[in-house]
Amino acid sequence: MTSPNEPTAGPCVIVIFGASGDLTKRLLVPALCHLQSFKLLPKSFAVVGVARTKADDAALRDQLGKAARELGKIEDAVWKDFEQNIFSCSGNYDDPETFKRLGDLLARLEKERGTAGNVLFYLATPAEAFAPLVEALGKAGLLREEGEQWRRVIIEKPFGRDLASAQELNQRLRAALREEQIYRIDHYLGKETVQNLLVFRFGNALFEPAWNRNYIDNVQITLSETLGVEGRGKFYETAGALRDVLENHVFVLLALICMEPPNILQGNGLRNEMVKVLEGIHPFENPDAVFANSARGQYGGGKVEDKKVVAYRAEKNVAPDSPVETYAALRLEVDNWRWAGVPFYLRTGKALAQRSTRIVVEFKTTPLMLFACGEGPVPPGPNRLIFDIQPQQSITVHFRGKTPGAGMHTQRVAMDFDYCQFDDNPRANGYETLLYDAMMGDNTLFHRADLVEAAWKIATPVLEAWATRTPKDFPNYAPGSQGPASADELLARDGRRWWTQSEKNPTPSSSE
Ligand code: BG6
Repeated sequence: MTSPNEPTAGPCVIVIFGASGDLTKRLLVPALCHLQSFKLLPKSFAVVGVARTKADDAALRDQLGKAARELGKIEDAVWKDFEQNIFSCSGNYDDPETFKRLGDLLARLEKERGTAGNVLFYLATPAEAFAPLVEALGKAGLLREEGEQWRRVIIEKPFGRDLASAQELNQRLRAALREEQIYRIDHYLGKETVQNLLVFRFGNALFEPAWNRNYIDNVQITLSETLGVEGRGKFYETAGALRDVLENHVFVLLALICMEPPNILQGNGLRNEMVKVLEGIHPFENPDAVFANSARGQYGGGKVEDKKVVAYRAEKNVAPDSPVETYAALRLEVDNWRWAGVPFYLRTGKALAQRSTRIVVEFKTTPLMLFACGEGPVPPGPNRLIFDIQPQQSITVHFRGKTPGAGMHTQRVAMDFDYCQFDDNPRANGYETLLYDAMMGDNTLFHRADLVEAAWKIATPVLEAWATRTPKDFPNYAPGSQGPASADELLARDGRRWWTQSEKNPTPSSSE
């Protein structure tokens, strides 16, 4: 949604809690620099980094600049302009003095830089700090909006670790903030190719008539990563693949594929329809239902693309007998008029063969096959619509075509659209758009309280059932593979298989 044609955001300060953390260095600061090079940041602007680690302005600028340049993400000229906007406020989050100093700094920036008292707080901290931080900001009077000025808070994920904790967090946030001030972020909603799902579905008439149980056989959503946990063991031991990725990023993709057309996108239009999808998924009623409709896995040691991967259990801060899953798959059904009976297969995992986020919509076959006299070099399979979200950014339609030559042999052929066709191929990771939207006061692409709770209503029974049975077969998949065999069995029970074709153009795949 961000492009150089958008208006510049109004005056404000962004206060980042967790300024010395990975998220700030790797994602937030580069995203703000991109906004700066698009001239979308306000003229009256500042970034305040709050962290426990002591650092003055110069030291913080240095630290963030070094990290950004090491990642190769920022041009020197852009950084030079940008770094003048960075200010440091070190201190402990449980010390009222930190908030007093922060208040003084905000007042100074308002006076010296004309930031108009508008502040966007970004909580890029471990999740346990979210509620105490908001409460401390409230106590210090920093969330109060006077006159035209605004105060907003972006909350990172994980938003709770199950339904009860998400409800409690919502309650605590709402004791200090209006719902409109709360921006629960899921960076997947900021990605171009994810937003394009909305345009594809609701900006075109071609596919909509077939977008339902009468024509669609099944939908598969995959978010696979080649990287392992990479030193994030401490966090990952409290999360696992279901909490870390499936319950949020993958559910967002599911909601966009399944939702009804909203009357309008802005405000609650989109969010109402997304919530309805998740509320239409009936949580599994007992552990048997969970085990029949899910699979989990954990990677052992090995290699992904010639790069050595240490087994998850051998990572730092991971228990040697850890039951935490690095792979999760679910089979869900959306119980509504449009989708009843259509299985949705979702999976995510670390240390897998490909980095790929992809949605595959498989259509039903024709009622009568006229061309059964033999198959051409690429077996046709069903019609498929494939949305490649990243790193490939494309949409491909698979259909049946005639193999040239004598006879009526048929094979799979494809039509595709690739984002590379745009000169300005979008490289944004999602944070640019969402930071800009939050500065503009547009919460369309942020989660509302009921959406996060609806997601946890589906995920919590799965986590609870899994917790009752320690997985005896962990580690059960090799790095660089497609994941555990149990995930294949999940589809095999329905007479289906995961679509794993990694090539853009149709070529015969060994398993077809
Ligand atoms: C984050 C998870 O939310 O999403 C990470 O915590 C995961 O574990 C990442 O790697 C994936 O995001 P992206 O944009 O790289 O697909």
